[in-house]
Amino acid sequence: MAHSSTPNRILPLLAALAGAIPASAQLPANSTVSFAPQAGASFMKMSISDPGNGFWTLHYSPDLANWYPFQAIKVNNSGYAVNLHLLENTPRAFYRASYDAAQQTGSNSVDQSLLLPALADNFSNPSLPPHFLTPQIVAQDNAPPNNPTTDAGATLGRVLFYDKRLSANNSVSCSSCHQQEHGFSDPRQFSIGFEGGATRRNSMGLTNAKYYQRGHFFWDERADTLEDQVLGPIQNDVEMGLTLGELVSKVAAEDFYAELFTDAFGDDTVTSNRISRALAQFVRSIISTESKFDLGRASNFSNFTAQENQGRGLFNGRGRCDTCHGSDNFVPNNVFNNGLENPYPDPGVGGITGRPQDLGKFKVPSLRNIALTGPYMHDGRFNTLEEVVEFYNSQIVDHPNLAPQLRDGRPPRPGQPPQPGGPIRLNLSPAERNALVAFLHTLTDPNLATAPKFSDPFDYGD
Ligand code: HEC
Ligand code: HEC
Repeated sequence: MAHSSTPNRILPLLAALAGAIPASAQLPANSTVSFAPQAGASFMKMSISDPGNGFWTLHYSPDLANWYPFQAIKVNNSGYAVNLHLLENTPRAFYRASYDAAQQTGSNSVDQSLLLPALADNFSNPSLPPHFLTPQIVAQDNAPPNNPTTDAGATLGRVLFYDKRLSANNSVSCSSCHQQEHGFSDPRQFSIGFEGGATRRNSMGLTNAKYYQRGHFFWDERADTLEDQVLGPIQNDVEMGLTLGELVSKVAAEDFYAELFTDAFGDDTVTSNRISRALAQFVRSIISTESKFDLGRASNFSNFTAQENQGRGLFNGRGRCDTCHGSDNFVPNNVFNNGLENPYPDPGVGGITGRPQDLGKFKVPSLRNIALTGPYMHDGRFNTLEEVVEFYNSQIVDHPNLAPQLRDGRPPRPGQPPQPGGPIRLNLSPAERNALVAFLHTLTDPNLATAPKFSDPFDYGD
C-alpha cells in the first residue's frame, strides 16, 4: 500500500493543508519528509530522510485533488533532496512524496547512486614531493605487500567509508566520526555512535595514517594492522553495531557494490576480508603533501613568516617536540606517556599489555593537519592548540612512565640512560608560545579538507 507525505504547496496561498492527509502512520519507519521554502526563489527544497533507502515517488498537483506522479527516486544513503519548482503559468503547485512498501524493486547502479568520476581517481600512484621519497619516509609506509592500493580498490573503500549501511540502523558511517573538513577527525570531544552512545575516546585524524612504521592503530595500538583496525568500529557495540555476517549481507544486497567489487577484486563476491582491504586502501590513500610546511621544504622555509620560523626552531629545539613528533610526518615509531595526569583513568597501552610500565602510554598522532582536528589528546581534553602548547610549557605531570624526553635536563641521546629529573618546564614567553602555534598551523594542507577524491561520493539529489 502506498503511503504519502503531507502535501506541501510551493506558494503561500491557502493555509490548513496539513489536515488533508494525516501525517501519522504514513511513511516507513523513522523516515521524514520536510519542505523548506527558499527565500526569494520560486522553488522549494523537499528533503527525504529514509534510513531504509527506499524507492519513492514524487507527485505534483495543481489543485490538491488531482495528483500526478512525475519522478521516481531511490534514496541512496539515508537522505535525498530535490528542488521543486513552480511550473510556468501555474498560479500554484502542490507536491508530496509517496512510498509503497510493495514497490521496492528497481535497479540501483553505480551511475544512479554515486557521483564517481568517469575515469577512476588516481589513488595508486599519487605524485609525491621529493621529501616523501627519502628512505626514512619510505620506511614508514605500512602498506602490506598483499594489499597494495589500486584505484578501483580505494574507490570501493571510499564508497564504503561514506556508506551508513555499515551501521546497524543506517545512521552512522566512518565519515560521521572522521570528517574530511576536520582532517578526518571529529570536532566533538567524544563521537556519537549509531544508537546515540558516546565513544570512550576522542576520534583520531586519519591524515598520513599510511606513514606509521609500526603499523599499529588506535590510541592504545590494539589493532596490529590497518586491515584489522577498519573492521573494529563496524563491530563495536557503540560505534556501528554490526556482525561481520550482517555487514556482508547488507553490502551484497546493494546493486552498485557488485560493479565496485568486480572492478576492485575481479568478481562481485562480497567478503569481510575484501571490505577491510578496500577500506584500508582508502584510508592509506588519505595523504597530505601540500601544506605550507611541504611547500617550504625545498627552499629552507623561505615561504615562512619570521614567527613561523621561530616556531619551527622551538619545535625542533628547546621545545623538544621533534623528539617524539619526528620526521616530515611528525610521528615517532613508539608509544609514549606525555604526562597528562597521574593516575590515568584510561590506562592506554597498559590496558592492552597489562604491564605497569605501559600505563598512560598512547600512540603519538601525526601533527599533519593538527589545526583541523581538535579537540586534542586521547580524551579530547584540550580545545585549542594554544592550550596544548601551554600544557607542554608548564603543566606536564610527573608519572613513573613519563617519557625521558619530557623530563628536566639534557634531552636523552641514543644509548644513554633516561634522564632522572622531574617534568620539564619550558618557560616559553607568550611570543614563543604563539610562534609554536603558528608553526603548527603551517602543517595544514588546504587541499585535503576539500579534495573531491576523498569526499562523500553518494548522490543525494540536489
Ligand atoms: C562512532 C564514531 C566512529 C566511527 C563510526 C568510526 N570511527 Fe574510527 N575512530 C573513532 C574513535 C573514537 C577512534 C579512537 C578509538 C580508540 O583509540 O580507542 C577511532 C580510530 C580510528 C583509526 C585509528 C587511527 C590511528 O592513527 O591509529 C582509524 C584508522 C579509524 N578510526 C578508521 C575508521 C573507519 C575506516 C571507520 C568505518 C569503518 C571508522 N573509523 C568508524 C571513532 C569512530
Ligand atoms: C615524549 C614524547 C612527546 C613529546 C616530546 C611531545 N609530544 Fe605531543 N604527544 C605525545 C603523545 C604520547 C601524545 C598523545 C597523548 C595522549 O593523548 O594521551 C601527544 C599529543 C600531542 C598533540 C595532540 C594530538 C591529537 O591528535 O590530539 C599535539 C598537538 C602535540 N602532542 C603537540 C606537541 C608539541 C607542540 C610538542 C612540543 C612542545 C610535543 N607535542 C612534544 C608525545 C609527545
